[in-house]
Amino acid sequence: MAEEEELSMAEATIVNVLEQKELKWIFVGGKGGVGKTTCSCMLAVLLARVRKSVLLISTDPAHNLSDAFSQKFTKTPTLVQGFSNLFAMEVDPTVESDNLEQMEGMGSFVSELANAIPGVDEAMSFAEMLKLVQNMDYSVIVFDTAPTGHTLRLLQFPSTLEKGLGKMMSLRNKFGGLINQVSRMFGAGEEFGENALMGKLEGIKSVIEQVNEQFRDPDLTTFICVCIPEFLSLYETERLVQELARFEIDTHNIIINQVLFEEDAVESKLLQARVRMQQKYIDQFHELYEDFHIVKLPLLPEEVRGTEALKSFAVNLTTPYRPEGGEAETKDLLTKGRIQELETEKASLQAQVLDLQSELEKQRKGKDLANS
Ligand SMILES: Nc1ncnc2c1ncn2[C@@H]1O[C@H](COP(=O)(O)OP(=O)(O)O)[C@@H](O)[C@H]1O
Ligand SMILES: [Mg+2]
Repeated sequence: MAEEEELSMAEATIVNVLEQKELKWIFVGGKGGVGKTTCSCMLAVLLARVRKSVLLISTDPAHNLSDAFSQKFTKTPTLVQGFSNLFAMEVDPTVESDNLEQMEGMGSFVSELANAIPGVDEAMSFAEMLKLVQNMDYSVIVFDTAPTGHTLRLLQFPSTLEKGLGKMMSLRNKFGGLINQVSRMFGAGEEFGENALMGKLEGIKSVIEQVNEQFRDPDLTTFICVCIPEFLSLYETERLVQELARFEIDTHNIIINQVLFEEDAVESKLLQARVRMQQKYIDQFHELYEDFHIVKLPLLPEEVRGTEALKSFAVNLTTPYRPEGGEAETKDLLTKGRIQELETEKASLQAQVLDLQSELEKQRKGKDLANS
């Protein structure tokens, strides 16, 4: 048994993430609806217990941190109710940054250039957001990311932007003071001039380079894949893991959500069939990702909404869920409850006996008095 445990694969929890005290950026990603928001919220709640300060950022345009915590969030970090060190914010990575608006103010030359570099506007606002967040000095930042395709594009931004900026720099060298001339021609002030713009772009470039380096450092950054035990999700996860490898971004945790357990399915043929179907894909996950931490979360009869629900469901991220374990616990609780009940009953019966005894004594004394 002990040997079996030693031979067994990586532990089936995300405790490894909680123990990695240097981690600064944690991405949580996967297909829509699999449980990314639920998992990133639970992870943030767990991290808040072991780290000084935690920031949870949703970059999914279909935000739902607000639904998960039953609290409204905006694009600035807000303290999550019931915590002293957990903050959350929702940002829209597709919104144009102020920088771009300023660039647009410079005339068509620069906006044409921006158009020539696809994704540069998104990259800029992502970079701006990272710069902002980096200056805020949180111990760890958890990203509830957009569905797969979008996430990968987000992680690609640093290199997209680096390329784009490189192109602009070389154009600047080629055309010398052309931008200045153009902007003077259109009456733009010095704040829109070439040097001001280039200074700003250089600033963003250095943030991007820094972040790029951090994202590729497995001590600082990791990506947690969330999925469900079905063919499409397995396939998507494999694609995601390969892309992450290509970007040199560490990933070694997979959360399989909405798992049905045999013990919970005894009543229904349909559920039993789904348990078998799920098990087939769970086995494949284990085969494909031998050295990953693979964490299973049970499918609940209800949604996971509100801080309390998140907290209690989060237990399954640190202790593998076992339906029979749960049953034993319930049995234990029932026994404890029954013992308490019996003790109360015994105490009340004892009190009644005492009452009856004193009543009896009184009656006897009365009788004695009457007789005397
Ligand atoms: N294991 C689960 N059992 C039951 N409901 C779940 C489970 N995990 C997530 N949910 C619910 O499913 C819905 C989608 O989950 P969510 O975390 O918002 O997914 P995503 O962010 O990937 O779109 C939410 O209403 C959530 O409360
Ligand atoms: Mg979500």
